[in-house]
Amino acid sequence: MSLKPSPSPSRRSILTAGTLAAALATQSHAAPAPPRRVGGEGAAPFLWGAAIAGHQVEGNNVASDIWLLEQVRPTLFREPSGDACDSFERWREDLQIVRSLDLNAYRFSVEWSRIEPAEGQVSRAALDHYRRIVLACREAGLAPVVTLSHFTSPRWFAAKGGWFHPDAPATFARHAERVIRHLGEGVSHVVTFNEPNLQLLGEWGRTPDPVVRQTMADMLAAAARASGSDRFSLMNTGDAAAMVAPVLEAHRLARQAIKGIRPDLPVGMTIALPDDQAVGPDSRLEDKRATVYAPFFAQARHDDFLGVQTYSRSLIGSDGPLPVPEGADRTQMGDELYPQAIGGSIRYAHAQTGRPILVTENGLATEDDALRARFIPAATAAVIAARDEGVPVIGYLHWSLLDNFEWFAGYGPKFGLVSVDRTTFERTVKPSARVLAGIARRDLSR
Ligand code: FCB
Repeated sequence: MSLKPSPSPSRRSILTAGTLAAALATQSHAAPAPPRRVGGEGAAPFLWGAAIAGHQVEGNNVASDIWLLEQVRPTLFREPSGDACDSFERWREDLQIVRSLDLNAYRFSVEWSRIEPAEGQVSRAALDHYRRIVLACREAGLAPVVTLSHFTSPRWFAAKGGWFHPDAPATFARHAERVIRHLGEGVSHVVTFNEPNLQLLGEWGRTPDPVVRQTMADMLAAAARASGSDRFSLMNTGDAAAMVAPVLEAHRLARQAIKGIRPDLPVGMTIALPDDQAVGPDSRLEDKRATVYAPFFAQARHDDFLGVQTYSRSLIGSDGPLPVPEGADRTQMGDELYPQAIGGSIRYAHAQTGRPILVTENGLATEDDALRARFIPAATAAVIAARDEGVPVIGYLHWSLLDNFEWFAGYGPKFGLVSVDRTTFERTVKPSARVLAGIARRDLSR
């Protein structure tokens, strides 16, 4: 995540500050029910769903690296995550909403710091918690797409040097193995890493803001001190280029461990991928692609699918990224409102990898739900058009189910199909959710 609080920040810069069923209580391994098929028999149903990530909705993820960074001073976080959406307690309600919308997939992440709050100390209760969610998804006819690392790691892991510690890939693979052994049977797809290229994307072609950079360094130093360490390193912070190799190694080892348990379970990672468009004859587009995506595409060719996460387009000129065009409508994150972006990004990702593409995130931050209600038909039409052309797109998971904790930007940006009262945690389904539901229903009953 790269998390960047600049005055008129792009969504990416916000995160890349830079230099950053009732579930079954039983443990029996009953065969999971298949995803609900609204349409006929035949090929696997297209996954229509919504996505969330643990830290952003669960609340009180106190043993995680990012929780600590929210508490130290200085901090780049606008506010602490606190109770978030209280989804650690209210997850059944969340699933029920997804179910009520006739969607057939739900993406969530397991929080490593709950499962292994201290190195080597595994919480069976936390594993059981996530297992109950997987089983409840299956009971509700939802395919559970499970992310193993959605930016957060345990605090102890960060204080050892995070992804730069030589043991990090093996340590992560042990975590992956533990999770899949415990709850893997009902899982539909596994995402090892969420957007491991986000910092590369945020930094490419930009001069880092020296104030943000210094605050980031001071925040990490404060977290190190608070942890009795001389270092504190998390995903998408520090030397972005140097983080690629260990993270890809961690992905490979995790993938191997997962396949050893469930060879049939599709494993992939997700990447942050705007629809990059060249402007002018000397556009640096190819330079960007080589730096920001190529290493991940090279790995994805050996994976079962690639998760694509697109929020807008990016115009690339001869000096790098160009500003959002004058007069263009923007989202709350400063991105250009450009719903058709997802069509370009999935075509490109498939052309580069030859793999099936799962849209693991797509959406917009806006207080105006009518805008989201217009965004969704345009974005999903772009996905369906690509699919009709033969791009093997296997699903569309909207970001996000809930208005949630948007990292550095706190609770300001509203990405949700569902609003959450910040005091009572009451959920209210927005009209845009019904728009997505209608599109999914029509597509699945074709
Ligand atoms: C992506 C993240 C997700 C959320 C959205 C808005 O970069 O994966 O957690 O922050 O952006």
